[in-house]
Amino acid sequence: MDVALERPLAAPRHRLRRADPCAFVVFGAAGDLTKRLLLPALYNVGAAQLLPDGFCLVGVARREMSDDKFRSDMHEALRKYATGKTMPEAIDRLLSCCRYVRGDFDDPSTYQRLKAVLADAGRSGGTHDNCLFYLATPPQLFAHVARALGKSGLASEEDGAWRRLIIEKPFGFDLESAQALNQELLGVFAENQIYRIDHYLGKETVQNIMVLRFANGMFEPLWNRDHVDHVQITVAETVSVEQRGKLYDHTGALRDMVPNHLFQLLALTAMEPPNCFEADAVRTEKLKAIDAIHLPAKDVLADVVRGQYSAGTVNGKAVSAYRAADGVAPRSMTETYVAMRLMIDNWRWAGVPFYLRTGKALGARRTEIAIKLKSAPYALFRDTPVETLTRNLLVLRIQPDEGAALHFNAKIPGPDIAIENVRMDFKYKDYFDAAPSTGYETLIYDCMIGDPTLFQRADNIEAGWRAVAPILEAWRRTGGSDLAMYPAGSDGPAAAAELLARSGREWGPIA
Ligand code: BG6
Repeated sequence: MDVALERPLAAPRHRLRRADPCAFVVFGAAGDLTKRLLLPALYNVGAAQLLPDGFCLVGVARREMSDDKFRSDMHEALRKYATGKTMPEAIDRLLSCCRYVRGDFDDPSTYQRLKAVLADAGRSGGTHDNCLFYLATPPQLFAHVARALGKSGLASEEDGAWRRLIIEKPFGFDLESAQALNQELLGVFAENQIYRIDHYLGKETVQNIMVLRFANGMFEPLWNRDHVDHVQITVAETVSVEQRGKLYDHTGALRDMVPNHLFQLLALTAMEPPNCFEADAVRTEKLKAIDAIHLPAKDVLADVVRGQYSAGTVNGKAVSAYRAADGVAPRSMTETYVAMRLMIDNWRWAGVPFYLRTGKALGARRTEIAIKLKSAPYALFRDTPVETLTRNLLVLRIQPDEGAALHFNAKIPGPDIAIENVRMDFKYKDYFDAAPSTGYETLIYDCMIGDPTLFQRADNIEAGWRAVAPILEAWRRTGGSDLAMYPAGSDGPAAAAELLARSGREWGPIA
């Protein structure tokens, strides 16, 4: 049987249970995140028959608004941002249970009004008093709202009802602020009530890294320092900072992407197999991988490149320089690109460099993990120009064009031994019908069923910040003297290529 021609089988989906009855309370309900992502995601969860019968959505925001106006705003948001065709009955079902609470987040009376609405939802809406509080607010309000929830008694779990808190990114600005925020939250909620989001963990392809590694026998024997030459993790974006200039100028690419999204990819790639797929088993192994990240103590910046985009062209469109964006200081030294070489100081990975890069306004959108294997002993091919033989490469494409490819050498048909690099490619879309998704569905559903596997534990977040702290500190000392410019639409600054070139390696292509 020709396996390549075999019709892909639809994987049997195990039946998911409906989520627990609950009230889904969104702080910051009038904001962009709620409209663009949360509501369409809730709709998708509902359309998949996974919302409980006893469900209600409660929006909390400063603006004066009736329940009806809130419903019509949410309807409008769905019309605009739904990820696929919508069904009127599913929309009606979601909107019919919407309630709105107006109030300032630091005003205790807001929480008293919320309490009354939730009590009513418990009585008449069948939510069993379970509440999920989603903080879709600016980050400086996270601690405020959590404290106020605590004071009003809304955080305590009584009579078997659960109370959970979902907290958005950014979680802190550095190690100290992340620790302080964890302390604040843990002063009100227990760790098992706190769900810290990294939306990368909601991506199917990110979740598939563990399946690829641990549900296949062929990779694990190669997945170590004996066989892997190095690993490249790329998160390249074509978008520029757009409307986020003011916020981004205080954040920069490192804080925005590395301790969270890139380290999640790194952790899933580098972690040891957990004993089981329970949340703490998985999160403990991820923590160990992040904790083992090592940067040279003496000269941290020798292994780090930061860049900022100047004017250029992305996908045929002119993009002005970062410094010309709204809200960005005209002489800003904020990095929109960062690349680094990290070592993971443990038995499996000692001596194997992990190269990470991420940037805005690059030539293409591409998130991938590339695992380059060591060369085979080429003695057999003495008469072949072995320097042209490429090393085996496994590329996990996270987005777009989700899939995985294995590059290896093959003989070119003909009487002599000529060898060429070929590629075996797996594309998700060839095998599976992806349900329309914002990427938040799994995360929301998991929180409703009380599964924190795809959320970050306090120690995971702090380990990420701890690993990048030496870079932030070294940058603080140098000012911006090491900031390299790159034209929008390029692959990033030349210095990033040099980071690999000095050990005879090169980045995979971005565009
Ligand atoms: C966010 C960052 O967390 O992730 C953004 O703040 C970035 O700057 C975004 O653009 C990337 O997410 P995705 O899912 O588009 O890769």
